[in-house]
Amino acid sequence: MKVLVVGSGGREHALVWKLSQSRLVSKIFTAPGNPGTAIHGENVPIKADDIHGLRDFALKEGVDLTVVGPELPLTLGITDLFEKAGLMVFGPSKKASVIEGSKVFCKELMERYGIPTAGFRVFEEPDEAYTYIRTVGGAMVVKADGLAGGKGAIVCRSEDEAMGAVRLIMEEKAFGEAGRRVVIEEFLDGEEASFIAFTDGRTVVPLASSQDHKPVYDGDRGPNTGGMGAYSPAPVVTDTLRDEILHRIMIPAVRAMEGEGRPYRGILYAGIMITKDGPKVLEFNCRFGDPETQPLVVRLRDDLLDVMVRTVEGRLQGTELEWDERASVCVVMASKGYPGDYEKGKVIEGLERADTLPDVVVFHAGTSLRDGKVVTSGGRVLGVTGLGGTIEEAIENTYRAVGMIHWDGAYYRRDIGMKAIRKSAGGN
Ligand SMILES: Nc1ncnc2c1ncn2[C@@H]1O[C@H](COP(=O)(O)OP(=O)(O)O)[C@@H](O)[C@H]1O
Ligand SMILES: [Mg+2]
Repeated sequence: MKVLVVGSGGREHALVWKLSQSRLVSKIFTAPGNPGTAIHGENVPIKADDIHGLRDFALKEGVDLTVVGPELPLTLGITDLFEKAGLMVFGPSKKASVIEGSKVFCKELMERYGIPTAGFRVFEEPDEAYTYIRTVGGAMVVKADGLAGGKGAIVCRSEDEAMGAVRLIMEEKAFGEAGRRVVIEEFLDGEEASFIAFTDGRTVVPLASSQDHKPVYDGDRGPNTGGMGAYSPAPVVTDTLRDEILHRIMIPAVRAMEGEGRPYRGILYAGIMITKDGPKVLEFNCRFGDPETQPLVVRLRDDLLDVMVRTVEGRLQGTELEWDERASVCVVMASKGYPGDYEKGKVIEGLERADTLPDVVVFHAGTSLRDGKVVTSGGRVLGVTGLGGTIEEAIENTYRAVGMIHWDGAYYRRDIGMKAIRKSAGGN
C-alpha cells in the first residue's frame, strides 16, 4: 500500500518510522515532513493545512491510505474531503474533530453525558467573565474555546491572573477567533496522564499508558510547552484506573459522539487528571499526542498500518494491542528560548552516532537540511527515544544518546521519567 502521512513534527516521524516496518507498506510520502521522515520515504512540499492540495496529490499518486497527524487539517475537514474523493483516510471527520476544535463543545458534551471533568462556565462577554472570577476567586483555569496551538489554556493561581488571562484571550484577542468564547474551569489537583485509544466508532482499543511533561523546566516549573518529553508505561495508571478510564470516560465519549450524530473514528486522546476523586478529563484531542507517540511506537508490536485500516473499516472488534514489556522514554531536545523566541539554523552534531546506539531512535521534529547538514528549524527539535528493561534503564539509555547530540543553544529537561521512578519506588 502507498501511504501518505500528513504533518512534519516528531509525532509524524514516529508514525512514519513505525509504518515503514509494516509488511503492507510499499511507499510512504510525508507532507511536508522533515529530514527524519525523508529517511523512510519521500517528503512532499504540501503544507498540512492545504487539504485540497493534499487530496489532489493523493489522487494523482494513487495513495491507498492517508494518516493525518495534526489536529488542524482534521478540524478543517480533510477526512470528509478525502472520503468524498473515494480516498481512505485515518482520522475523524470535521464534525467529530470538534471534540478538540471547540473546548465549549467538549465540556458541554461531557456534562450532558456524565463524563467526569472539572466544573466549568462558558463566557462570551469579558465583563461577565470578570464578575464570575471575582465571585469564585482563587485558582482556576481559563481556556480559549478554539485551537490555539497548545497556548490557549492558562492555569491561573489567583483572581488577578485569571482576569489577565480573560483580557489576553477576549480583549487582546491573542488567539483571534479561537478566543471569542472562553471556558473557565475549576482547578484540579493531581497527576496528569495521557490515555490514547483507537476507535472505529464502536470498539475502543487503548494504547499503553503514557505521560507527557508540559512545563519547560525541571520539576514541572515554567510555562507550558507542546511537551518536553514523555514515557510509557505510566505507573500512575494502574490496571484498575485503566479500566475505570476506559469504561467511565473513553467508551462513554465514543457513545456520546454517536448520540450527537458525530460518529467518531480514529484516535481519541484524553488528557486526564488523576484526582483524589478519581480520573477527570482535562480535554479530548482528536489525534495522537506529541511527544507521547514517540515512546509508544517503539513499544508497539502490532503492525500499525493494519490497526489503522481496521479502524477506518470499522473492524476493530476483538483487537488487542501487544506491547514490548520494556519501558520507553522520549526526551525532547529544544531550542534555547522555547516556548518563547529562539534562534534557528544551528548545525546539529552527533545525530548519526546517537541513532546507532541499541534501543535508541532519534525522531526529528523542528529540523531541516542546509548544504547537506541537519540544522535546527523549530522550537522542539528532536525527540530522542530509548527503551530499557526498567524505566531507570530507559532513562539512562535515552540520556546517553542525548549527551552525544550537540548544537549551539540546545536545551532539554534532565528529569524526564523521574516521576515514574518515584511512583514505582514509593507505590501509589
Ligand atoms: N482544570 C484544570 N486543572 C488543572 N490544570 C489544568 C486544568 N485544565 C488544564 N490544565 C493544565 O493545562 C494544560 C493544558 O490544558 P488543555 O485543556 O490540555 O489545553 P491544550 O492542550 O489545548 O492547551 C493541561 O495539560 C494541564 O496541565
Ligand atoms: Mg492538552
